[in-house]
Amino acid sequence: MQVINLFCSSGFLIAFIIITITLFLLKSRRPYGSPPGPRILPFLGNLTILLKGNLIEISEKLKATYGNLFSLSLGGKWIVFINGNEHLREVFVKHAEFFSDRPKVFFIDKVLQNKGVTAQNGHVWKTHRKFMETVLHNLGFEKNSMKSTILEETQHFLSVISDSNGEPINVSYPTYAAVSNIICSIAFGRRFDYNDVEFQKFISVMYELLSNQNIPVINLLPILQYLPGDIFGAKRILQQTHWLKKEFKRFIAEHKDTIDTENSRDFIDEYIIEKGKNACLTDDDFPIAVFELFGAGTDTISNTITWSVLYLLKNPDIQNRMRDEMLCAIPTDRLPTMADKLNLPFCEAVIAETQRLANVLPFAIPHEVTEDVMIGQYKIVKGSHVIPNLSSVQHDEELFANHLKFDPLRFIDKQGKFYGQERIVPFSLGKRVCPGESLARMELFLFITAIVKKFRILPEEEGIFPSSQGQLGIAYKPNPFKVRFIEWN
Ligand code: HEM
Repeated sequence: MQVINLFCSSGFLIAFIIITITLFLLKSRRPYGSPPGPRILPFLGNLTILLKGNLIEISEKLKATYGNLFSLSLGGKWIVFINGNEHLREVFVKHAEFFSDRPKVFFIDKVLQNKGVTAQNGHVWKTHRKFMETVLHNLGFEKNSMKSTILEETQHFLSVISDSNGEPINVSYPTYAAVSNIICSIAFGRRFDYNDVEFQKFISVMYELLSNQNIPVINLLPILQYLPGDIFGAKRILQQTHWLKKEFKRFIAEHKDTIDTENSRDFIDEYIIEKGKNACLTDDDFPIAVFELFGAGTDTISNTITWSVLYLLKNPDIQNRMRDEMLCAIPTDRLPTMADKLNLPFCEAVIAETQRLANVLPFAIPHEVTEDVMIGQYKIVKGSHVIPNLSSVQHDEELFANHLKFDPLRFIDKQGKFYGQERIVPFSLGKRVCPGESLARMELFLFITAIVKKFRILPEEEGIFPSSQGQLGIAYKPNPFKVRFIEWN
């Protein structure tokens, strides 16, 4: 009897092992027709690929080997990268109805808690998005107040830089504070002094959270958030999210006490009013909707401005040409306004070239495909995470020869006019295209031209320049560096 039991149990064990191995081997093969990619290892999938450098370099190498569509198996999910202008348009514009959902990756699920615009899908996403677009439009353009808010903030920012008296400073702090203040004006109807201790705490928490280089990695490999000892800092990220949400709830409560529904002051007032009429806007969504304005509207813009300072530092001739153009087009005693834009094609080209080279959201935000869809010869299987590799356009050597060179003339035609901005896609494309694009363009123009009009940007030490390497958190930001701003007489 014991022999039979032993036989049965070892038979069961052998069957179990065979089935498990078969399942793992099946799991280790790409679904039939999927885009190619590196060999998938049992248990590990393509995990080892993440050890081979940063994500931007890895994706460049994979694109060179496998072409514009390649796939990886990470954390039990299929991740498909879409590269190059043509494929990005085919996937996210032509087949937008299947490729516009968001997957539940760590940042969307745990930080944004599946609320607000960025994280939601379907009807609820459309409603939130429409609401955000309407408020940004009304606050920004209809009342025409956004331009003056930005110009006012630019003055505060310039005076902080002026106070440095030509000593080396890290420009990313005042830039971050200034750009956050513009979102404060939109969200809370007020700005803060840069020395305000509460404001400093608020932006330092936001800055640390959004700069966390582990976020893209945990998004790809969610299991990392559960490792003991919080090696990947996921718990800290969630504590910071909790703290920020608490702060936003405080502002919301203050607004509820003081609102005049006939005279909405800001985004929070608009939300309170709309929430009464629209069941999709809920109390749970509210603090996240405010958080997302900061998350999306601060890091991206302030990093682009910081990159522009770095590139201009390394290219004094380009600073001079921008300044000469401004001196011809604008009286010396004032800063550029949006009305000057058409007369400043070279300045516009510098901003476009900064967006191209800096490439601050190289992988946009992940999408998910809702059906099996054929793209050319490849099938993208339902449920795959789909990554728009915007970097593959901005750094396409065929479109932009010598693509690592900062050369604004790529955006100037033979007549000296600004042209060809549509060749880059920093705001992504399709239904999820950035809803803050107009605001972002305004801020980039007003800040970058103001800096160059007022100051000469010089290195901390003559002849020594910081590296152009960056770090990828939510956005791609330059490594910390210092510069001297010398006021023109
Ligand atoms: C230089 C500045 C900016 C850049 C480069 C940028 C870029 C992007 C990109 C690449 C996406 C992802 C689109 C996709 O999933 O395919 C995005 C989404 C988004 N952006 Fe921006 N953005 C900027 C500024 C802003 C500002 C100022 C705001 C708001 C005030 C904003 C709000 C959003 C929101 C809410 C989304 C999610 C849209 C959705 O899921 O439907 N962004 N942005």
